[in-house]
Amino acid sequence: MHIAVVGLSHRTAPVEVREKLSISEDSMQVALKSLRAHEQIFEVSILSTCNRLEIYTLVRQPDLGEAAIKDFLKEHSGLEEQKLNPHLFTYKQEDAVAHLMRVSAGLDSLVLGEGQILSQVKKMLRLGQDHQSIGPILNRLLTQSVSTGKRVRSETNLGTGAVSISSAAVELAQLKLGQSQGKDQLVTLEPEKVAVVGAGRMSRLLLQHLQSKGCTEVTLINRTRKRAESLAADFSTLKINCRLLEDLDDCLVTCSLVFTSTAADNPIIDATRLKTLSIGKLRLIDIGVPRNIAADVAGLQGVDSHDVDDLQEVVSRNQEARQQVAREAEVLLKQEGRLFLEWWDSLEAVPTINQLRATLEGIRVEELQKALSRMGPDFSARERKVVEALSKGIINKILHTPVTKLRAPQPRPERKDALNVIEKLFDLNLPTEG
Ligand SMILES: NC(=O)c1ccc[n+]([C@@H]2O[C@H](COP(=O)([O-])OP(=O)(O)OC[C@H]3O[C@@H](n4cnc5c(N)ncnc54)[C@H](OP(=O)(O)O)[C@@H]3O)[C@@H](O)[C@H]2O)c1
Repeated sequence: MHIAVVGLSHRTAPVEVREKLSISEDSMQVALKSLRAHEQIFEVSILSTCNRLEIYTLVRQPDLGEAAIKDFLKEHSGLEEQKLNPHLFTYKQEDAVAHLMRVSAGLDSLVLGEGQILSQVKKMLRLGQDHQSIGPILNRLLTQSVSTGKRVRSETNLGTGAVSISSAAVELAQLKLGQSQGKDQLVTLEPEKVAVVGAGRMSRLLLQHLQSKGCTEVTLINRTRKRAESLAADFSTLKINCRLLEDLDDCLVTCSLVFTSTAADNPIIDATRLKTLSIGKLRLIDIGVPRNIAADVAGLQGVDSHDVDDLQEVVSRNQEARQQVAREAEVLLKQEGRLFLEWWDSLEAVPTINQLRATLEGIRVEELQKALSRMGPDFSARERKVVEALSKGIINKILHTPVTKLRAPQPRPERKDALNVIEKLFDLNLPTEG
């Protein structure tokens, strides 16, 4: 069996491709079920975030397993192979394990070390457990990747001062405002009339960062009033005016800076909508994936629109100092990846150990029967028991050292060699894979 991950991320695909692959929590069960039903796939879990869609699997044969996942992605996205495949990456075995550890630690994130990815990996684990699409191997791998993500953040400075997509979005607004004033630097957002559309986790972070960057008043627009009001109640020093989505047009006219971060499947702002409004100067920053703002707003008079891929501009300004910390984190990730592989390798010895035990047990029972029948009826029940216990004791003693050695952590090739020797010398007949 082989671990494989197939997917795409902000490193390999633009947002217009990523949004076609995104899988909402509501659709996750169906997606997992359909993948799990494939005869090549034993275990499967899906990581779907604004920046990546990755399918982790335990497959029978790596190439056939990879092909099965690619077929699924093609069907799910509706993209033709030539459009989709150039954006996909595949990692197998150690590389797949190492990739997940890096993702979980935030080292593969657009914003290095950001914390949201760890919650998203936890969610992938929970969904895999709830929908019973993962078994012992992926369960162990995902659990270990979550603890590794925590370990890296507590034992290195990676989590310290780590930013998020939301803080990068606020910085992008500051940078763009600065650039519009002829300065290549972040400026205060104090004079801006700001609105945030959506009242979920990302909007909460947006509000926190807006507050820390000098905003004193924000309009918070949401589909349902209750969630907006409950979020607003958590901010005592930021004045938050809650409005419903029906008031969006009004806000687009009165505000100069609008952030969108809803989980809507389709854009909620497009060129047709904006053209009907008398807009002065408007900057739109969309961190939703799928996008909340349609691509056709680009180029509209008076409107500047940015999506999640445009955050790269601010992110690259902050990354250099964090690269050193990332290198420290890589050392821990290597250790954790090795620990998982050692555990997994030790499982590889189980069929050989079981077969070896069964073979020796067969010999023991056969030889015991022969000996007992030679002893005849004079041999008492008690004496029979003693002889039987003696035969079992000898087998267990003989097996103890080789079994302990086969199970002990060791380099994969060494264990493989030892298993091969035992299988050959004892002429063991192991069931073959797939
Ligand atoms: N979580 C992350 O780490 C992360 C990072 C970067 C970007 N993003 C993107 O940011 C967006 C929001 O993520 P989140 O984690 O903040 O989500 P969330 O906590 O689940 O909140 C979802 C928000 O979207 C609103 N919403 C859902 N469907 C809608 C629809 N059809 N029309 C209008 N509003 C709708 C909800 O309104 P109600 O309150 O009325 O339900 C709620 O305010 C997503 O597109 C996500 O991909 C997330």
